[in-house]
Amino acid sequence: MKEFIEKMPKVELHMHVEGSMEAETLWELAHHNNYKIEYNSIEELKAAYKFNNLTEFIDMYMLGTRVIKSEQDLYDVCMTYFKKCVEQNIQHTEIHSDIRTYVDYGYPPEFVINALHGAFVDAKENYGITGGFMPCFIRHLGNDVAKEDLDLMLPFKDKILAIGLSAVEVGFPPSLFKDTFAKVHDAGIKVIAHAGEEAPADYIWSAINDINVDRIDHGIRCLDDEKLVEYLVETQLPLTVCPYSNVALKIFDDISQHTLPIMLEKGLNVSIHSDDPAHFNAYLTENIIGIAENTSVSKEGIIQMAKNAIKSSFADNSRKIELLNSLNQYVMDA
Ligand code: ADE
Ligand code: ZN
Repeated sequence: MKEFIEKMPKVELHMHVEGSMEAETLWELAHHNNYKIEYNSIEELKAAYKFNNLTEFIDMYMLGTRVIKSEQDLYDVCMTYFKKCVEQNIQHTEIHSDIRTYVDYGYPPEFVINALHGAFVDAKENYGITGGFMPCFIRHLGNDVAKEDLDLMLPFKDKILAIGLSAVEVGFPPSLFKDTFAKVHDAGIKVIAHAGEEAPADYIWSAINDINVDRIDHGIRCLDDEKLVEYLVETQLPLTVCPYSNVALKIFDDISQHTLPIMLEKGLNVSIHSDDPAHFNAYLTENIIGIAENTSVSKEGIIQMAKNAIKSSFADNSRKIELLNSLNQYVMDA
């Protein structure tokens, strides 16, 4: 099973690029860019990759953004993740980041957009990897900042796959951003939102009813609301679940306690992703293996979720067929 998962063709839909910065990379960039960090060694820094909740995690995540000082740095971080994709046979990946953090540091919006777009162009050429960039509004900065972000991003909309909502969830429901996401839809851009990660099921309803999401990031709290589960099963609205993220941020005590098997059994459109693989010490393969080895999810369940990820991606139809054929062929030959 482990080998089957390692070699299986994969699609990743929920991965924050700065969350793929290993402590070693962060350390090297800090030194290269003369940015002073409070840790005295890589080991000390690595030891600080421990969190009790999402807010604590976001603080550490922000350190990664502070050591990035050029488009080339961010491009390099992204290319390092793409090399991991090659190792793990991730053939299509849709990546989260944000422009706001870097705009606040004094860089123009194209800093992030060009770095990630350039990395995707090269990943396609060198490795055949497809996908795109999904900037998120930083929800705890509020809707006025989100509005400004949107105005800054719209001139580059051809380089944007979707716009999302990330960072501190509790206290910042999607409803606060209703008018801004209406403009995102008007611009023909897909909408995603972290919802029901730490905050209750209401936030998932709000993502559906107030900002009309095309996909939900996490959504694990839906199980607390029967009507919501019914709605999600009927509509097959995708939920991008990140098992080791949920364990690291103390939503579940242990991977064996994860409710993904129940979600799958209920017929929800769930798939597995890594969220912040360096911080949570698990890339996509390790997340899938974690679920396969520690829960009741069967090999069929693993294949079903790999198909769900393809179906739920924002790839065009011909690419989806290609990805599905590649997966089906692999399953037949295995
Ligand atoms: N930013 C990076 N990882 C995140 C997560 N798991 N939830 C919300 N915002 C994030
Ligand atoms: Zn996330």
